Amino acid sequence: MTTTIKPKTAVGGVITVPGDKSISHRAVILGSISEGITQIHGFLRGEDNLATISCLRQLGVDFEEDVDNNILRVQGVGLRGLKPPKDVLFCGNSGTTMRLLCGLLAGQNFDSVLDGDPSLRKRPMERVATPLRLMGAEIATTGGNAPLKISGRPLVGIDYQMTIHSAQIKSAILLAGLYTKNKTKVTELKQGLTRNHTELMLANWQRLNGKIHICGDFSSAAFFVVLGLLLADAGLTIQNVGLNPTRTGLLTALKRMGGYIKTNITKTEGGEIVGNIFVKKSKLYPIALSGNQIPLMIDEIPIFTIAALFADGTTIISDAEELTVKETNRLQTITTELVKIGAKITADNQGMVIEGGHPISGATLDSHGDHRIAMSLAIAATNAQSPSIIQNANCADISFPDFYKTLAEL
Ligand code: S3P
Repeated sequence: MTTTIKPKTAVGGVITVPGDKSISHRAVILGSISEGITQIHGFLRGEDNLATISCLRQLGVDFEEDVDNNILRVQGVGLRGLKPPKDVLFCGNSGTTMRLLCGLLAGQNFDSVLDGDPSLRKRPMERVATPLRLMGAEIATTGGNAPLKISGRPLVGIDYQMTIHSAQIKSAILLAGLYTKNKTKVTELKQGLTRNHTELMLANWQRLNGKIHICGDFSSAAFFVVLGLLLADAGLTIQNVGLNPTRTGLLTALKRMGGYIKTNITKTEGGEIVGNIFVKKSKLYPIALSGNQIPLMIDEIPIFTIAALFADGTTIISDAEELTVKETNRLQTITTELVKIGAKITADNQGMVIEGGHPISGATLDSHGDHRIAMSLAIAATNAQSPSIIQNANCADISFPDFYKTLAEL
């Protein structure tokens, strides 16, 4: 799909965004291996999450969808109830599906194969296979990548010191740890820098009593936070968004740039903080972003670069090498595309330099099949001086179905 984005002069109002992608993955995985029915409200029906459901169905789990009321019911099979899959488990574009299922499947008493689309087949998988092997897992990667062949076998708990900031690795080990007799311990490089949704959901599972309400995805709200800072004269409110502090590093960065952003917490559910975000058009100043600030906004760097384009002066991003192994090499893809609209931006394999404050013009742009690149480009194009065309725009459906509709309605 190709979409045309016309420049806007102002936006405003109150919006909501679809359910959190990371929490949705975890809710269906834990629901599948618990006893009885789990009722999930607000599950994200994005392509990545549908891939997780499809794999779990192949593992013998039944799902019932009430699309009108946005309720998904998972018929849990219990910790030992998963069945051997008859075919390859296809994870599509979803790194979270592949890495979390790798942890879940390592300790089963059957074998399985995980595969993905061409983008996922390029992403590093030894980072999950290595710690799982320390637990006794037998996992063969294909030159470090998918397809992954998992020979299910008994596992032992480990005391693991993480070497990369990654919630997916942490979660894979914790899921495998559910299948060991002894304790599994994961120590992060620094606590509180990677999303802790798995830990919170495990710790709160019993209290949730079979009912989970999934909040709006902060990473989806992020596109409209930046749009609001650029165009919302009277303000823009995004309601019911997850405000887990391991996710909201973008707000800290944008406030440092001078952004007018107010959050108010409305509830805490299952350990997850939820609230509303109010943003108003603001004059933005450049900042330097590095070190521990990066993991806290790991998925928001592409949209952050759009804010930086409109800040008067030079913004520098460093220590961001993890961005090179996402759905695309995001440092490169966002830079390649933004140059086409006249941005003064350069990238290497650990960061970017963005010289903001120059006017940008419309152009024909390409998402490279990366959902967060597509949506970041759409926000940039909304602020250009002439219309833009975005090719391969439909990949936004991976995490934010109706993104273009929400943008058009503002
Ligand atoms: C995710 C963790 C992050 C993030 C991804 C979702 C998760 O990946 O970039 O979009 O749900 O655990 P890493 O663990 O590779 O940093």
